[in-house]
Amino acid sequence: MTRQYLLTVNGKTSFVTTTPDRSLLDTLRDGLGLTGSKKGCDEGECASCTVLLDGVPVNSCLVLVGDAAGKSIVTIEGIAEADSPHPLQKAFVDLGGVQCGYCTPGMIVSACALLREQPDPTDEDIKFYLAGNICRCTGYNKITAAVRSAAETMRAAAGSAPTRRTA
Ligand code: FES
Ligand code: FES
Repeated sequence: MTRQYLLTVNGKTSFVTTTPDRSLLDTLRDGLGLTGSKKGCDEGECASCTVLLDGVPVNSCLVLVGDAAGKSIVTIEGIAEADSPHPLQKAFVDLGGVQCGYCTPGMIVSACALLREQPDPTDEDIKFYLAGNICRCTGYNKITAAVRSAAETMRAAAGSAPTRRTA
């Protein structure tokens, strides 16, 4: 039996009609047409489906739609405006952190949460925080470099000194 759920996604609130056993990921992709969050494994193993739920990165394939109702949901589509990419998006492209791109939305959403918590992460911090985000293509070094570069860009934009800590 279907129910209506009030979802707030990327700042926009709307009703979605679906069944209670539906995942947030399927609801975003099929119900709301937000296909940026990728369906890799659909069982919590790859994090290509990562979204922010009240600011916390979660695997949206493991979240039931009802558990997301009433919370703030941010997907890759809500990280930045289409004509003004987020520094992470720009750095991933510029530094080769994207190959097939399947992991990239989840990787960037997770990295976004990291940089909110820790604006000046070491390489080890980045690797630790993104350990659950699986990439089959890049070998991770370019992703780490992209996150570090974006962090520097964001700190510079915020007016803080671009100092680096050692790992
Ligand atoms: S699709 Fe959700 S963790 Fe892989
Ligand atoms: S770029 Fe292909 S899985 Fe990461």
